[in-house]
Amino acid sequence: MSKAYETLKIERVDNILIITLNRPHRLNAFNDVMMEELYDALVNAERDPSIRCVIITGEGDRAFSAGADITAFPKATPVMAEEFSRLGQEVFGFIERMSKPVIAAINGFALGGGLELVAACDFRIAAEHAELGQPEINLGLIPGWGGTQRLVRLIGIAKAKELVMLGGRISAEEALKIGLVNKVVHYDNLREEAIKLAQRLCELPPIALRYAKLAINFGSQAPLEAGLRIESAFMGLTFSTEDLKEGVEAFMSRRKPQFKGR
Ligand code: COA
Repeated sequence: MSKAYETLKIERVDNILIITLNRPHRLNAFNDVMMEELYDALVNAERDPSIRCVIITGEGDRAFSAGADITAFPKATPVMAEEFSRLGQEVFGFIERMSKPVIAAINGFALGGGLELVAACDFRIAAEHAELGQPEINLGLIPGWGGTQRLVRLIGIAKAKELVMLGGRISAEEALKIGLVNKVVHYDNLREEAIKLAQRLCELPPIALRYAKLAINFGSQAPLEAGLRIESAFMGLTFSTEDLKEGVEAFMSRRKPQFKGR
């Protein structure tokens, strides 16, 4: 039985965990409870060997998440804001450090912290009507959960500056053009498409998948020479796995491999 959360819905489909951000009356905006609960759900997913892939989405068809809950801003002190920024960075950073792939199924607005969460995921599928943006500047602040850093790495400085410094919104189609999302689908097919991608990931060797993810995520933050060393070390480690033997044997005998994550 999965744990009950106040602000999240949790669902299992085979080896996939689906986390749904569930504050639709606030367009799934993040308060501190939702951030803590998301952290808890992700840590549990990481520890559970039966979970091979995580999908994060939002409740309803209006919003993935409209970012931080603005109603809390008037009472926030600078120290509280700094702490909430650090907590969000920790949670979204955890997604990048997780050994399992995480898919964002963007079911509507992904704004501010919503887009920062999307940017920390490994794969992004958007519904056609979704709109993405970093509107913080319009409120007199700047992104605090990685928006000034991860977008640059994903789409380059020029496009990141357009989003962060102009504060406008872009369509799912535009997001696809600039490489911010992997795929755009009709809303009715979003869940199915996300599950299909997750199932494909579940069939791949989990240890190699983990090292591929970590080599990309850590390597992209390091100078090329250091990144290449990280790659070699992780590649070498895959030679200790049963899955590598299985992959090679299955190739040789022209059958489908059965990876066990060992
Ligand atoms: N925090 C708290 N509440 C939010 C919110 C947020 N980030 N975004 C939306 N809401 C609330 C609205 O206040 C509204 O509540 P109400 O029904 O009690 O008035 C409800 O969610 C629906 O939003 P609404 O603005 O009426 O919908 P819309 O379709 O007209 O506009 C958006 C949708 C997403 C364009 C608009 O809500 C918006 O700009 N939200 C803020 C996004 C943002 O700046 N995020 C970064 C925060 S740092």
